[in-house]
Amino acid sequence: MTRALTLLAPAKINLALAVTGKRADGYHELRSVFATIDLADRVRVAPSRSLEVRIAPDVGAPRGDDLASRAVRAMAAAAGRDAAAFVQIRKRVPVAAGLGGGSSDAGAVIRALATLWRRDDLDLMAIGATVGSDVPFFVSGARVALVSGRGEGVDPLPDPAEMHVVIVRPRERLATTDVFAALRTDDRGASASVDAVRNAFARRSVTPPLLRDNARNDLLAPAERLCPAIAQARSDAAQHGIELSLSGSGPTLFTVADDRRDALKIARALRRIGLAAHAHTMAG
Ligand code: C5P
Repeated sequence: MTRALTLLAPAKINLALAVTGKRADGYHELRSVFATIDLADRVRVAPSRSLEVRIAPDVGAPRGDDLASRAVRAMAAAAGRDAAAFVQIRKRVPVAAGLGGGSSDAGAVIRALATLWRRDDLDLMAIGATVGSDVPFFVSGARVALVSGRGEGVDPLPDPAEMHVVIVRPRERLATTDVFAALRTDDRGASASVDAVRNAFARRSVTPPLLRDNARNDLLAPAERLCPAIAQARSDAAQHGIELSLSGSGPTLFTVADDRRDALKIARALRRIGLAAHAHTMAG
């Protein structure tokens, strides 16, 4: 019998993100191309008589209200079992950063429990959607996907060859709710970019320049209004010829590099001007 499972829960970036409408329930309709990167939390899930979630370092969520605990409860409700599991999470993905770290942990918990409980009959993506908007993408296991609706529509796209990105992490945290609340109708305009990125992946013709040209995110303007450090970082980088784009609701920024050498060079240049920049691989 399987005693425990350890999964990697990768971070994601949003290569392009368009908000296309507001729903009656307060959520927004969006279309976004999500891609995982090689920065990941480690999630270990083991059977247990009670629910215990240990997250290190601490993410500051009220006890029992973190996304991993919510994922166990959602799976238990769907499976008709007690919400009992022992979950240990080693965090490497920064929290409230726009990288989907908490959602990815939840996705890993759902996948692990489905295996441990031998439940291949459950609709894991629908269960994930009850935990959080980004969770279905992570439950899907796709490395690149067009995500739509509130986040429940996940159309996997062909994996490209390994690509290289530089991730820049302002120290601030941003709550997704606040960024969506600060969105104005005239902030919208990234739809064509989402289509261009999606089509390039679908036709297997994606290139770094295409991704750079289309790295638009409708949440950039509201995120900058709430967090001036984002605009500052982007303008400092632009003076060195580097255009930084927003991931998710921020504040994490990224740029797509031509290759590994280029990524290391860009990360060094950004660190010289005081930004916390690191080279990562995407998909591949
Ligand atoms: O689904 P999740 O709990 O991750 O969403 C956090 C917040 O982000 C929601 O409460 C909502 O304010 C906002 N949101 C939204 N539309 C989405 C996803 C999130 O308005 N598609």
